[in-house]
Amino acid sequence: MDKIRIRGGKRLKGVIPISGAKNAALPLMAASLLSAQTLRLGNLPHLADISTLARLLAEHGVEIFMDGDAPGGGHFGRVLALTARKITSTTAPYDLVRRMRASVLVLGPLVAREGIARVSLPGGCAIGNRPVDLHLKGLQQLGAVVDVQSGYIEAKAPKGGLRGAHIVFPFVSVGATENLMMAAALAKGETVLSNAAREPEVTDLARCLIAMGARIDGLGTDTLTIQGSDTLGAAIHNVIPDRIETGTYAMAAAITGGDVELTGVDLSNIEAMVEKMREAGIKITPTERGLRVARGRARIKGVDMMTEPYPGFPTDLQAQMMVLMSVAGGASMITETIFENRFMHVPELGRMGANINVHGASAMVRGVPALTGAEVMATDLRASVSLVLAGLVAKGETVINRVYHLDRGYERLEEKLAACGADIERIKD
Ligand code: EPZ
Repeated sequence: MDKIRIRGGKRLKGVIPISGAKNAALPLMAASLLSAQTLRLGNLPHLADISTLARLLAEHGVEIFMDGDAPGGGHFGRVLALTARKITSTTAPYDLVRRMRASVLVLGPLVAREGIARVSLPGGCAIGNRPVDLHLKGLQQLGAVVDVQSGYIEAKAPKGGLRGAHIVFPFVSVGATENLMMAAALAKGETVLSNAAREPEVTDLARCLIAMGARIDGLGTDTLTIQGSDTLGAAIHNVIPDRIETGTYAMAAAITGGDVELTGVDLSNIEAMVEKMREAGIKITPTERGLRVARGRARIKGVDMMTEPYPGFPTDLQAQMMVLMSVAGGASMITETIFENRFMHVPELGRMGANINVHGASAMVRGVPALTGAEVMATDLRASVSLVLAGLVAKGETVINRVYHLDRGYERLEEKLAACGADIERIKD
């Protein structure tokens, strides 16, 4: 298995282009199942998770053509043309679903279009239990009969197809909102999703569905109203920039005392992160192409932070923020409210000299003057990248194992960081 080796202590300076958002791209690709016509998605990131979902969609009969890289070269802005002329299989097998939980996003589209779906139940996950009960209850409210048999979700629409309903989510779920919005787009009549997720990735999906002919109101609010259609058509849609990648590199620049411009970002989607970083003493200024992050020699200030559904501080940046706080002057209380087990990076950071105590859903981080390099590993994507940030600032050498986690969500990570002066390399197995 590949490893990443970092020799810490280099200030990052330069420009980092931000890729398309993984968590927007995955539901958008699943939306191709809703139409017999071609969905062309641009600005797709080149990531392992995208390939995994492409394999699953191909299993369902979706024809996928890669139109090559968009102008600009490199891997940026890949274009995929997805055509689900005919669904050839309504089963999403365990072997593919277990690799990536987001595979469950094919459930809503398959039941809505074919009236039936059999999707492997995603198992547990390193960051928490992550059930899909809200997805299933919502589909039942749209009239589907849903069973779980031998590890598979089996869902069947009533004669005449799914019917619109008023679904009130007891708490915010990004995936359930996306799955049910897609299902509702082909249901009969009106569906109202109350307490819906307002994440930018949900809004991006809604915009794409509208381009395909769906009628959806309430974009960006917690109430989405969908008027079902009999069929959806072709569309061309560009994936939004990755706000989590943006935040990750902003923190990389800040932690190394660097000065980096992040280009191609959407400033409106990252307000909570920008506010917290400014509170911590980091200079963030909009530029013509994106934003500039600079710290200079001033020490990072310890600030408290709590993860929340959008527009709050994202859970997907919690681990990275914790590393920033671990070298801050003063203490910081970090509270995770979305996932019950998302502090897996804490023991590894401890091995690098961080002073962090976890009490239930909160972590007390007491800033230390310096971290030291070590051999570390992580169990999920954001925990892994937090170790990269720690390695960038640590004294000496850090080796990060299980790089496949990083490849799921960060396009050309080591190239982007090395271009700004980081001493980082991939060690091929
Ligand atoms: C999405 O996961 C993202 N993944 C996650 O990013 C992100 O952390 C999460 O939203 C929260 O922002 C994708 O978009 C592919 P949820 P999702 O449903 O949709 C509980 C990353 O690192 N829940 O909003 O699965 C759940 O257990 C990943 O890129 C239920 O209890 O998240 C969690 O505690 C990790 N029942 C909370 O809700 C359900 O039916 C929020 O989960 C559904 C969710």
